[in-house]
Amino acid sequence: MTKIGVFDSGIGGKAIADKLEKLFPSAKIISVNDSKNVPYGGRSRADIIELTEKAIQPLINKKCDAIVIACNTATTNAINDLRQNHPDVHFVGIEPMIKPAAKLTQTGAIAVFATPGTLKSRRYHQLKHQWAARLTVLEPDCSRWAKLVEDNESERIDINSVISEVKRWNIDVIVLGCTHYHHIKDRIERAAGRNVHVLEPSDAIGARLDELLPTDFAPLE
Ligand code: DGL
Repeated sequence: MTKIGVFDSGIGGKAIADKLEKLFPSAKIISVNDSKNVPYGGRSRADIIELTEKAIQPLINKKCDAIVIACNTATTNAINDLRQNHPDVHFVGIEPMIKPAAKLTQTGAIAVFATPGTLKSRRYHQLKHQWAARLTVLEPDCSRWAKLVEDNESERIDINSVISEVKRWNIDVIVLGCTHYHHIKDRIERAAGRNVHVLEPSDAIGARLDELLPTDFAPLE
């Protein structure tokens, strides 16, 4: 049986694992998180690398056919190290969808909702430089969101004020650059309104796994 490992610092991974269970009903989805050390978003790069490496050990030991790093913070800071340390493992990372957002925007202004750890990573700066150099990219302070979602207190997040702040710049795309925010996607979409696209990568992850996994392994049509 094909085994797909899913890692996130916390409950962001659940949003992705649920989706993968629907897309790949014949696979075994094995999820791990690091509830002891979540959130990762305010930590140093060195910490994020060390914690991620430790947390994925059960997935490595179980010899998963692919491991999804369902965490933008861990992907943007640690995936190169993980790939170097485990050259025989297929890692699929999740990083902010700057390229699709850049293709989609008509107004030339987008907003990225992500953790401080993602926003200050070298990988994120590369993505912005490569795809969004001519765009206005707003990065509102969402630094408390992952913890509030993790603690099941997401109703305390003042989504409306963040959305109205970014809408003043005429943005037409919001990138969900943290898997914890998938749990509040509906509220974000409602607050953003019909003219704003809200992007998150779960379908793209499904497509990438489909390419990677053995050919006798058929996803649900
Ligand atoms: N879910 C993680 C992400 O996608 C981060 C949450 C955290 O700060 O640990 O970035």
